[in-house]
Amino acid sequence: MLLKNLHIGLALISGIGFALRGYLRLVLDRHPPGPLIRIGPHVIDTLLLISGIGLWMQVRHGLLSWFGLKLALVVVYILLGIGALRSRSRGAGIMLYWLALTVFLAIAVIAIQKP
Ligand code: HEM
Repeated sequence: MLLKNLHIGLALISGIGFALRGYLRLVLDRHPPGPLIRIGPHVIDTLLLISGIGLWMQVRHGLLSWFGLKLALVVVYILLGIGALRSRSRGAGIMLYWLALTVFLAIAVIAIQKP
């Protein structure tokens, strides 16, 4: 239960962090410097992954279930996020940003509404 709450908390921080960073960078065109913005997301996302693996070791869901779909969408979310923040075109970056946020929401809905 503790690990699950930690996982949910990290997922929330990760999602809100990405939403804020993307909005600052892509919509407002601001590039705030500092180690918190540079390293923070990597630390949070690594802990999110570790807590997810820890949870999985307890429940051992098969990949041919909602869990496999969730993991596949996590990969899509990561790729869209990288694409959004690295995109040279602002329009494409903003589109990838919204897509990434939509996929993030889908991951959360699948995790919460699982059978
Ligand atoms: C964007 C990334 C992620 C989000 C938003 C997310 C979200 C969530 C949420 C909200 C829950 C709790 C569901 C409930 O109320 O019962 C959950 C549970 C879980 N997550 Fe994640 N998660 C993410 C990434 C991962 C990753 C990368 C893994 C595995 C490597 C993982 C493995 C799990 C497992 C095993 C559970 C427990 C499922 C169960 O209760 O049976 N998650 N996740």
